[in-house]
Amino acid sequence: MNRVILAARGISKTYPGGIRALDGVDFELREGEVHALLGENGAGKSTLAKILYGLVYPDRGVVEYRGRRVELLSPRDALSLGILYVPQYPLLPRGLTVAEVVELYAEARGFRGEPVSAVKGAAENLGWSIDFDADADSLGLVERQRLFLSLALGLGFEVLILDEPTSFLSGVEVERLLKRIEDVKGRVSIVYITHRIGEVRRIADRVTVLREGRVVARIDDPSSVSDEELVSLVARKRGLSAIGRRGGRRGRVVLRVEGLRVRRDDGRLAVDNVSFEVREGEVVAIVGIEGMGQRELLEAIAGLRRPESGRVVLDGVVVDDVRVFRLAGGRFVPGERLEALAADMTVLENIVSPLHAARIVFDKLVLRVSRALSLASRVVDEYGIVGGPRSRVGELSGGNQQKVLLGREMGVEGLKLLVMHNPTAGLDVASSRLVLEKIAGLADRGVAVLFSTPFIEEAALVADRILAWRGGRVAAVFERGTPVEEIAKAILA
Ligand SMILES: Nc1ncnc2c1ncn2[C@@H]1O[C@H](COP(=O)(O)OP(=O)(O)OP(=O)(O)O)[C@@H](O)[C@H]1O
Ligand SMILES: [Mg+2]
Repeated sequence: MNRVILAARGISKTYPGGIRALDGVDFELREGEVHALLGENGAGKSTLAKILYGLVYPDRGVVEYRGRRVELLSPRDALSLGILYVPQYPLLPRGLTVAEVVELYAEARGFRGEPVSAVKGAAENLGWSIDFDADADSLGLVERQRLFLSLALGLGFEVLILDEPTSFLSGVEVERLLKRIEDVKGRVSIVYITHRIGEVRRIADRVTVLREGRVVARIDDPSSVSDEELVSLVARKRGLSAIGRRGGRRGRVVLRVEGLRVRRDDGRLAVDNVSFEVREGEVVAIVGIEGMGQRELLEAIAGLRRPESGRVVLDGVVVDDVRVFRLAGGRFVPGERLEALAADMTVLENIVSPLHAARIVFDKLVLRVSRALSLASRVVDEYGIVGGPRSRVGELSGGNQQKVLLGREMGVEGLKLLVMHNPTAGLDVASSRLVLEKIAGLADRGVAVLFSTPFIEEAALVADRILAWRGGRVAAVFERGTPVEEIAKAILA
């Protein structure tokens, strides 16, 4: 076996507030390997990654690089060693262009050569074009991830820590990324954090599983372990099998989208003359490569973005504003979850405050604190949120933040239409399944559900109809039961 390049020994970390994220964790990354790090939402994966990158300092334990103990007091220390972390939610410095960000990382790495063209080349290899003159600050989540992955592969780092790199990628993009990883394997050592067993199968040489901050399994030969065993090591819960739908007759039309044309912030056309309907009790999924206008479409439907032409009618009311959308019984879960959550506030406050505000306006009733607490506790229990009602949302793991948001919006009384962008992004297998089951449950109670996702398989599990999205249009419509390959063709054609 190859030498160990990066190691964590006896690492413990308790965050202020008393959450023990890691408890005596040993982890070894060997030269040239792809080492998958698995675990449920909140298991401690990102915390370990951040410790290996100097973003979080452990309470106990040491980090070693090439056999030497290193003090990683900031990402600069890690970068100069040749370690790069690609986070779930990359933060970018204000006031710089994308090119300047690339130069910063290249400098910290000690990269020789022309960094912008190196990153550009890496991006093109993955099928992406990056606008290097754009304000880094203005990039959306998906664009940020693409930038960081290109940066990781373009700038010659020795160790890459990829934290759920495929959460927002479609099948083709995942495939390209996995291919690139296979290309660089041997030269680069990679920690690969994921919830997707298929990806582990494709590229992982070894696997470490975390549960509640401890290592529960180290697997040196993943091919000797079945998918079911892997899933049960991670979660001890069921995987993604078929989800029951009562189905049957759909009710009247709840949402009507008519000839919608919507532009992006930069003026380019994002949604090109799109029309469709969603009925009571129906689940409609929009499936396509992320960043092709889905965000603009869903925002226009929710009244958050003014269309250039066409209109949105919800329950007979023309939606021209988000308040109208909400009053008519619509709710929207954006893909960038922190847009809809207050990171500084507690789970309780995040779950209750919108409801509270609505009550005061509509029936002059004030929600009592005890009721609020029991409501929030119910969401915490039902969705298995790690952390209690009093945890600050900014301190929850990525998947747990998503569950707070979904729990809040799915529980709204009088809900008629739920619109979601990437509802299962960042969720572990069991939580994804829970969310898909909740979607099915809502529909069976008569709610109309519309969501966008890059994952055909998940859409196929619950959707009554799938709209294949391509180039800002609905390229084809598929009924429940259509083979996944056929849908994939329509998205790519
Ligand atoms: N800044 C923070 N302050 C307080 N607690 C935190 C902070 N960051 C993470 N935690 C807590 O530490 C635990 C582990 O979180 P971590 O982000 O490492 O999980 P994860 O395995 O990456 O989960 P996910 O799959 O959802 O991303 C969670 O209970 C989380 O609430
Ligand atoms: Mg994480």
